[in-house]
Amino acid sequence: MKICMIGVGYVGLVSGACFADLGNTVYCVDKDKEKIDMLNKGKIPIYEPGLNEIVNKNYLSKRLKFTTDLATAIKSSDIIFICVGTPTSKKNKSANLQYVFKAANDIARHINKFKIIVTKSTVPISTGDKIEKIIFKKRKKRLFEVVSNPEFLREGEAIRDFRFPDRIVVGSNNKKVTRKLESLYDPLIKKGAVFFVTNRRGAEMIKYASNAFLATKISYINEIANLCEKTGVNIEDISIAMGLDKRIGSRFLRAGPAYGGSCFPKDTKAITVTGDLFKTDLSIIKSVIKSNTERKILLIKRIEKILSNNIKNKKIAILGVTFKPNTDDMRESSSLLIIPFLERKGAIVNYYDPSGKKKEFSKLSKVFFCKDIYETCKNSDLIIIHTEWDEFKTIDFKKLSKNRKFKIYDMRNLYSPKKMKKMGFSYYSVGR
Ligand code: UGA
Repeated sequence: MKICMIGVGYVGLVSGACFADLGNTVYCVDKDKEKIDMLNKGKIPIYEPGLNEIVNKNYLSKRLKFTTDLATAIKSSDIIFICVGTPTSKKNKSANLQYVFKAANDIARHINKFKIIVTKSTVPISTGDKIEKIIFKKRKKRLFEVVSNPEFLREGEAIRDFRFPDRIVVGSNNKKVTRKLESLYDPLIKKGAVFFVTNRRGAEMIKYASNAFLATKISYINEIANLCEKTGVNIEDISIAMGLDKRIGSRFLRAGPAYGGSCFPKDTKAITVTGDLFKTDLSIIKSVIKSNTERKILLIKRIEKILSNNIKNKKIAILGVTFKPNTDDMRESSSLLIIPFLERKGAIVNYYDPSGKKKEFSKLSKVFFCKDIYETCKNSDLIIIHTEWDEFKTIDFKKLSKNRKFKIYDMRNLYSPKKMKKMGFSYYSVGR
């Protein structure tokens, strides 16, 4: 099939490359010429394991094309995916849809024959109706069909999530169109993915409801972890035993710092705005947002307690600053609050992240990027493991310590408290 992806951000690039890998011809279009030039030179603008290989392989086989020429890409394609960003609106915490509507107007201008127009961007319930109206102003209804097909890709594991999805959700009442999408996804359906069809608003809702539920699950276990800390119970036991109940499930029950990233914080806010708009109080999701915001403060208070409220001139090492491993994404990461706080309190902060130095900390005069774990932790009073990158799972703390006394705050529960205690370390973790 011939496909056009509008927007070569995270979702557009990963999905476009993976669709090409399934044998389709894919035009990835973006107005950002610099980004398109970069991709045409074989450089990938985002950090995503495995993406480089798939992009290069399919680019060389000419199935994957990068262009700024929207008109040609639209005219040449049967299916057009809208993959532009929907950031939080400054006005009302809902999703800012200006890029989605611009894409709809652009599509309307260039439609030459029947097109399936698919929203992959996360868009509030009823956005598909609005896109349809925009295009209908310029084109006859028989020339297009607007469909919702939300993505469920996790950063850092996006290729795997694309290739082995639990489900593929399509929102459309048009049988011919859903059959076409079913054949596009056929290689994944054959491997076991469930192809689930509902109406357009239903598909839009599934995406938000899923993200808000996962955010709820994390906040829930984080609050139980707080109680574990006060009662001497081990949160790991609670997560394991709860997860063994098939009605609950074990995934997304890991206690840690506040959830971050570009999706959960944005989407939980946006769905509560939609709730308000439709006069439905989504009080659970609202309290999840509150709980997650408060969690960041809680982490800071814990650090203060670990250092007996004496942060000034302390050397603090932070391992991992991204919101999760295998990504360079800093959006809504707890580290964005923790590191400036420590600096304000007079600490000297060394940090290391396998995805590199972060511009977010470049203006902080006592915050330094180090090249590896050992340089970061040298002479530290406190080592904080903030993100669970693989290389932080096997640190030789004995080698690090050189008989110097330091404390460890493991926000991801990577180490066993028993073993750490046995080795003589002052070790603190989450909910145990
Ligand atoms: C999330 C969803 O998982 C994807 O299904 C969805 O497609 C994506 O948002 C999106 O809407 O585009 P992502 O934001 O990449 O994916 O990251 P997650 O793996 O979901 O992690 C989000 C946050 O939750 C991270 O801060 C992570 O550390 C935290 N988390 C996750 C926990 O604290 N505990 C867990 O058990 C799992």
